Amino acid sequence: MTEGLVANDPGTAADLLRFAESELRAALPKSVARLEYSTRRPALWTTRERFWPMPIYVDHGVGSRVVDVDGREYIDCNMGHGPLILGHRHPRVMAAIDAQLDRGNHFGPPSAHEARLAELIVKGVPGAERVVFTNSGTEAAMSAVQIARAATGRRIVAKCEGGLHGSYEPLRHSVLSFAGTVERPEASPDVGGMPPSTSADVLVLPFNDEVAFKLVRQAGEQIACVIVEPLQGSAGTLPASPTFLQGLRNACDDVGAIFVLDEVITGFRLGPRSGAGCFGVVGDLTVLGKAVGGGLPVGALCGSASLVDLTTTPSERPANEAVFIGGTFSGNPLTSVAGVAQLSELLEHPTSYERLNELGGRMRRGLAKALADLGVPGFVTGMGSIWGGPYFTAEAPTTFRDVSASDGLAGKLLSIYLLLEGVLVTSPSHLNFVSTVHTEEEVDTVVEAYRRALVRLQREGVLGE
Ligand SMILES: Cc1ncc(COP(=O)(O)O)c(C=O)c1O
Repeated sequence: MTEGLVANDPGTAADLLRFAESELRAALPKSVARLEYSTRRPALWTTRERFWPMPIYVDHGVGSRVVDVDGREYIDCNMGHGPLILGHRHPRVMAAIDAQLDRGNHFGPPSAHEARLAELIVKGVPGAERVVFTNSGTEAAMSAVQIARAATGRRIVAKCEGGLHGSYEPLRHSVLSFAGTVERPEASPDVGGMPPSTSADVLVLPFNDEVAFKLVRQAGEQIACVIVEPLQGSAGTLPASPTFLQGLRNACDDVGAIFVLDEVITGFRLGPRSGAGCFGVVGDLTVLGKAVGGGLPVGALCGSASLVDLTTTPSERPANEAVFIGGTFSGNPLTSVAGVAQLSELLEHPTSYERLNELGGRMRRGLAKALADLGVPGFVTGMGSIWGGPYFTAEAPTTFRDVSASDGLAGKLLSIYLLLEGVLVTSPSHLNFVSTVHTEEEVDTVVEAYRRALVRLQREGVLGE
């Protein structure tokens, strides 16, 4: 038992983590055996096995639940990192995939389904005159930067501190770390082997702070694009203020830079017109992923015709003037039918978004009440069907720097205790989702699980009372 341990004793934080991890391992013998099998054969050590605190090997999912190889059932608040807005194995999405499998899963030439998916994207994303598909949000964000550089003839890419846009090197700055001051952030490389010349072409802006507008105007005609998430997911599920997004948009217009909205998380999740519709701002280019593939790998880039058309090579233009977007699996029929089924289901039932937002609101209110009842200073972030935290800070966090001040030990232990309670969160808990098939009762069950986990953290002296 952890009774008697006091979190601020030297070494106790490590003891608490070790104890929590061993409790989790004891609850998951088959997952542990699977992990040990891979650990003994490093060649089998895969991306998802690097999950913290340890991978829970999933056997299957239905609706709002997943079941692991040990037979433990979890209320899933990770939902495949967000794409599964309709839950696991939604009948319409499964039927579309099954029907396509009977016709073949992959072809070189296009299928009509790709165009149907593009049509839905044009309807659901303000400013989308053209759509091109990729296999991931990373590729779509990379293409947005390449188009912006080709269109403007400029090099500098501006992004916000805490903003996550995938793995393209210029965008891997100040994602997990920060440097410099709030007024003058510095680009902090978050990936090994970054050439200094890449960092030299990156301007990092403070999020939710009008200092960003000044920095964009100062850099002026050097800036190719500004890329921003309407809601910063990885940084702590922090919505942008609408005035911040509009201010950035205006600053881009003033200096002739391309304004890129990264809606990989928010696209078709926050509403039928995506984040842009909710915030009243339109990107010159919009990056999509997650929900538009109905649970299969996807990315998409859309925006004004004059920009997206830079990806085509008319015979009269030299090849090196076009931006290359392609890929063996881009726009594949299986992803396309799954995406069409998911987006059609959402858009044909306009109450879907009311339901998603209601459930997300219930979660945030429930968690805030649990914190208040227990006297724990902390804040829950997010909007719509997305929530983050709780963050144990004195003031409501609005930036990655604010979130970074939260107690890291409490955040880590919390996600382990939630797993032991049968709640699967993105760990450490920072970006979680409900789907249309979660119920009010499940939301309340999750809130009660958080409450018990918070009480345990208080008992262990990690959180005050
Ligand atoms: C806002 C945002 N942009 C881009 C990406 C990268 O997308 P993908 O993981 O599909 O490469 C992510 C991934 O979570 C994201 O959250």
